[in-house]
Amino acid sequence: MVTRRNFLDRLLALGFVSTAVSILYPVWRYIIPPAAAEPATDSVIAGKIAEFKPNTGALVKFGTKPAILVRTSDGQFKAFNAVCTHLECTVQYKAETSQIWCACHNGLYDLSGSVVSGPPPRPLEVFKVNLRGEPGQEDVVISRA
Ligand code: FES
Repeated sequence: MVTRRNFLDRLLALGFVSTAVSILYPVWRYIIPPAAAEPATDSVIAGKIAEFKPNTGALVKFGTKPAILVRTSDGQFKAFNAVCTHLECTVQYKAETSQIWCACHNGLYDLSGSVVSGPPPRPLEVFKVNLRGEPGQEDVVISRA
């Protein structure tokens, strides 16, 4: 038989449990967020060919990461993952030396993505570059090699 006192004790316990769950559940979800699938990006259109002058570099959004598109002095296109392999700063193109430079710790890469000097432990990831469309109006397309 449930006495009035037992009923009130159970009601009080239920209130405590509900309060604890309502506080702890958001904390738990914050500490352990749901696994979010990173959208896989295999290729992006960086822009029209005319937008990229020789001996320049441009950062392009490649999924959730930046890519660097370099147009060399002789007009060739090269693209790399723009995340430095040392501590993940974003690299940039250095026109004076035709190299890719990481300002964080003075890391230098050549235009094949290889490390020239500085602390980066590995070369930059190389992407493919293709031109698509009408001659003179081509899109510059960067994709995973
Ligand atoms: S993060 Fe690029 S050299 Fe250190």
